[in-house]
Amino acid sequence: MIDVAIFASGTGSNFYNLAINPELKNLINIRCLVCDNPKASVIEKAKLLNIETLIVNPKNFDSKIDYEKYILENIEDVKYIFLAGYMRIISPYFLGKFKGKIVNIHPSLLPLYKGKDSIKRAFEDKVEFIGISIHYVNEEVDGGQILAQDKFRVDYKLSLDEVTQKVHELEHRLYPKTIIKILTDN
Ligand code: GRF
Repeated sequence: MIDVAIFASGTGSNFYNLAINPELKNLINIRCLVCDNPKASVIEKAKLLNIETLIVNPKNFDSKIDYEKYILENIEDVKYIFLAGYMRIISPYFLGKFKGKIVNIHPSLLPLYKGKDSIKRAFEDKVEFIGISIHYVNEEVDGGQILAQDKFRVDYKLSLDEVTQKVHELEHRLYPKTIIKILTDN
């Protein structure tokens, strides 16, 4: 079993979906959920699944480095970190401790629509295809090597919420599949 941590800040549908995936259950041990937002509903999901949760509020630390050092102390033996809606930029210091071992999922066809509100921006631009990307994390926001992508043609009779739902469905299919590939290839 490979020890991993999942970082999330929000709803946690991706976290939940990874945690219940039967194939992943045979491959990984989710040592903990790291959550920077004490009010995030992902925390409830982790409780439900009996997954240890490290709630770390950055406001309680003097600096970003102190905040990250605290997290690092708690995930020492973890081999991979999977970001699932973690809304913070990871410092070069932290990245240095997990070189090539941090993976993120982003709701756009990178390199398009990096950053926040990607689905909304793509939808408002009336792009033909909306998609998702899974990529290694490097120092550039949403900029690391792309591992997998998927997309669908947007039907503009649908609302933004409906399109967002379709994006999440793609995410829930592709993230576990990609993680399994990373873990079995390496
Ligand atoms: C997902 O769209 C993911 O791609 C992005 O943040 C969102 C998290 O959603 N990074 P959830 O909390 O997993 O439901």
